[in-house]
Amino acid sequence: MNAPYSNCSPSPIRSSGIGGAPPLLSVRGLVKTFPGRRVLGRAAAPVRAVDGVDLELAAGETLGLVGESGCGKSTTGRMLVRLLEPTSGTVEFEGRDITHLSPRALRPVRRRLQIIFQDPHASLNPRRTVARIIAEPLLVQGATAPAARERAAELLDLVGLRAEHLDRHPYQFSGGQAQRIGIARALATGPRLIVADEPVSALDVSVQAQVVHLMGRLGAEMGVSFLFIAHDLSVVKRVCDRVAVMYLGRVVEIGDKRELYDEPAHPYTRALLSAVPLPDPAAERRRERILLLGDPPSPAAPPSGCGFHPRCPKAQAVCRTERPLLRVVGSGARTAACHFPETG
Ligand SMILES: Nc1ncnc2c1ncn2[C@@H]1O[C@H](COP(=O)(O)OP(=O)(O)OP(=O)(O)O)[C@@H](O)[C@H]1O
Ligand code: SF4
Ligand SMILES: [Mg+2]
Repeated sequence: MNAPYSNCSPSPIRSSGIGGAPPLLSVRGLVKTFPGRRVLGRAAAPVRAVDGVDLELAAGETLGLVGESGCGKSTTGRMLVRLLEPTSGTVEFEGRDITHLSPRALRPVRRRLQIIFQDPHASLNPRRTVARIIAEPLLVQGATAPAARERAAELLDLVGLRAEHLDRHPYQFSGGQAQRIGIARALATGPRLIVADEPVSALDVSVQAQVVHLMGRLGAEMGVSFLFIAHDLSVVKRVCDRVAVMYLGRVVEIGDKRELYDEPAHPYTRALLSAVPLPDPAAERRRERILLLGDPPSPAAPPSGCGFHPRCPKAQAVCRTERPLLRVVGSGARTAACHFPETG
């Protein structure tokens, strides 16, 4: 169906609270603008890397964040854990606004809000032993050295490594093992939410599946929620409960994984999904590929109206002038920012 969407009332991002519980993480109007780099002595336009992101994540849930390179996924993830200061907007974690907490006030929050990075070797200090790397956040939180070492050994066991690995250095491990060490470190302080920024994209495909499985198991066993940032929609499908699709600094569709994969409402989501290879060769031959024209526009010079309109096969005049808001689509478990969403 191609009905214009003007009759629908704007809807906030749906709360995903399981059993009506308040969300673990709630993000409203998050913006990050970087100053433009100087070229030949002249200042370039500022880069609006994140342009008003709204998200909610329930306790125990895994939310996937997907989109093309440069759409603002990492910048969003880093603002959520306060590694980057937002230009505007709010981040609420466990019901508390943490957007402007001082480093001191943030310290106890960090125990419960951790991050894992894409390149495990680059994110582990090469001069430190594994024991020191995993124990460090515990020592910062006041644990004694023997207690921290004992906990580090337990965590290594949990991620499928052995206590004898404690005294080795990161370079002595493969990429998959090093990512397991990164996960153990993130789990050390008993977090409730881990932002995982492309945690498997630097790993071999066979190792990716093991690490994804490990994260899923640990999430379920330890009650940890994940914001899982990825390019690969098939990985996200395996690991996430809900999915948010980003384009040019904005969330353009967010909601229940099954609905979003089966009946994508936003033309950009449809295009991304049409590029995911299907396991069945016959289905692969039959299915329609939606080719996107050109590259994503620069966040330093975003298009007017809907940021996707220069590449959208469904764009109409209104798309060039009016920015679409996120509105409920389908059964109500999803929202999409499009004037003409596909509705089944
Ligand atoms: N420190 C910075 N200064 C200026 N621009 C930046 C900075 N960090 C990121 N950007 C720009 O912000 C935009 C979003 O970057 P970001 O790294 O968040 O994208 P991403 O979706 O994580 O991409 P990828 O999939 O390649 O990791 C890009 O245009 C990027 O060039
Ligand atoms: S240009 Fe934007 S608003 Fe218009 S149909 Fe495409 S995605 Fe929807
Ligand atoms: Mg990134």
